[in-house]
Amino acid sequence: MNIRLSYYGWMVTRNLVKVNQLHLGDSPKTDLLLDLYTGLFAPYEDSSLHNFMLDEGLIELSDESASRGEILLRYQRNPFEHLEKIIFEITTCCNFNCDHCYNAQVPRLTELNPKILRDAVDNFICMGIRRFDFVGGEVSLYGDGWLELVEHIRSYSDDIGISLYTNGWWLEQAKFKAAGQLFADTQAYLAELKRRGVSHVVFSLDGPNDLHDVSRHRPGLYQKILRGLAQVKKVGLAPRVSLLIRAEWSNEEVESFLAEPASIIYDFDPHTPTYERALRLSLDPTNAISSFIDVGNGAGDDRIQFPILDTRDHPLYCRNFYRLSPSLTVKANGELATCRLSQAGEGYGNLHQQSLVETLNQFDEAFIYKLHVNRELEIYLPLVDRSLFGSAFTHLCSLRAIITMLARKMHEQSISFEDALAIQRINREVAVLTGHFPLKEKE
Ligand SMILES: C[S@@+](CC[C@H](N)C(=O)[O-])C[C@H]1O[C@@H](n2cnc3c(N)ncnc32)[C@H](O)[C@@H]1O
Ligand code: SF4
Repeated sequence: MNIRLSYYGWMVTRNLVKVNQLHLGDSPKTDLLLDLYTGLFAPYEDSSLHNFMLDEGLIELSDESASRGEILLRYQRNPFEHLEKIIFEITTCCNFNCDHCYNAQVPRLTELNPKILRDAVDNFICMGIRRFDFVGGEVSLYGDGWLELVEHIRSYSDDIGISLYTNGWWLEQAKFKAAGQLFADTQAYLAELKRRGVSHVVFSLDGPNDLHDVSRHRPGLYQKILRGLAQVKKVGLAPRVSLLIRAEWSNEEVESFLAEPASIIYDFDPHTPTYERALRLSLDPTNAISSFIDVGNGAGDDRIQFPILDTRDHPLYCRNFYRLSPSLTVKANGELATCRLSQAGEGYGNLHQQSLVETLNQFDEAFIYKLHVNRELEIYLPLVDRSLFGSAFTHLCSLRAIITMLARKMHEQSISFEDALAIQRINREVAVLTGHFPLKEKE
C-alpha cells in the first residue's frame, strides 16, 4: 500500500506552505507532509508516525496501482481549494416570517452541542479558513452559545473575519434578551458583540424602504437599519449588508438600492456618483448580494418566470456541489451543506455522526457530489411533478434544489424509476420542504 495526502491533509499542508510554516527538518510529521505535497505519494510503513497521521485524517492509504497522474489529479481536484469561509447556521428558528425566506419550511432547531462546532473550527483554522459567518434563522435571538464559539474563533487571531447576519430586530430596543443574555440597549448589545470577537454586523435588506418593510412585515425597519449601520460603526464594528435583488428591477434601481447603505458603510462624500458607491459595496466580499430564489415562502412567486422543464439549454448541475466556492455551511442539524436552499445541499455527512475530517475526506463519495459532477440531474428532470411545482421558475437554482432533493431521496430509499407511486410521494415530500405544497392562496 501507498500513502497520499487526504483532501483535509492537502488543505492543511497547502496552508502551512502559504504561511511559511512548513520547513524541512522541523518534525517528522511536517517532513512527511512536505514529502507527500511535493512527491505525491510514499510507501506505507506500519510506523507510529504513519498510523498517527492516518488517525488524524491527514493522510490516507492508496492502492499501489494508482498512477502519479491519478494522484496528482486527485490533489488538483480538491473540493475545498476555493473554500474561503464557513457559514455556521446555528439555528433555523426565527422571529420573522419574511415573504421570500428560503428557509421557511425547514424544521425549527438549534445546535445544542458546542463541542462539535469548536472541534470543527480547530480543523477549519488548520485548513487556512479566515472567515466565519453566523447566519441562521436569527442567530442573535435563538443562537444560544454562539458567542462562545465566536470567542473560540477569535482566540486564534485578530485577523479573522467573524460576521453576524441579522434581521435587526434588536435595533433601538431597550431592555431586551438576545440569545439568553439581557441587554440595556442596542449600544450595550453591540459593545458585547465586539468584546466577544465579532468583527462585522450584516443587516439584510430586501429592497429599498417600503419594499423591505413589507417583505419583512416590519414597518419602519429599513430606516432603523440605515441608522443601525452608523451605530455599529460607532462601537468599532464593521457594518455590512446582505441584499436581495429582484430580476425585474432596472439597473438604475439596483444601483441606487446598493448606493444608499454604501454611503453610510464607507462614508462616501454625498456627491460621489451612485454607480461608484454601488460598485464599492458590491466589490466588498463581506457584503452579500443574492438574486431572489423562489423557494420556501418565495415558492410560486410569478413576477418573473421562465419555463425550464422542457429545455436542456441550461445546465442543471452546479459546481458548488463538488468544488465549493466560496463557502461551506454547517447547518443547525449538524449536516455539512454546499447549497443553502432548503435541504438541497445536505447529504455529505453529519457532525453528530462522524468527525468533520472524515466527512471532508469522503466528500466525493456523497451521492449528491456524484449527481452534480457526473451531470446526472437531467435524468431526474422528467420525474419532477409539474402539478406540484409548476412548469416555470424565477431562478434556475430552485429547479436544481428540487431535483437534487428528489434524486437524493430516491437514492436513499432505493426507489426505482419505474415506481411511480413512490416517486409521487417523494415529490410531495420535497414540495413540502421547498414551499410548493400545500399551495398558497393567491391574494
Ligand atoms: C436566511 S437569512 C438568515 C439571517 C437573518 N435572519 C436575516 O434575515 O438577515 C440569510 C439571508 O438569506 C436571504 N434569503 C432568504 N431567503 C432568500 C431567497 N428566497 N432568495 C435569496 N435570498 C434569500 C435573506 O434575505 C438573508 O439576507
Ligand atoms: S430571511 Fe431571515 S429574518 Fe426573514 S424569515 Fe428568513 S431567517 Fe427569518
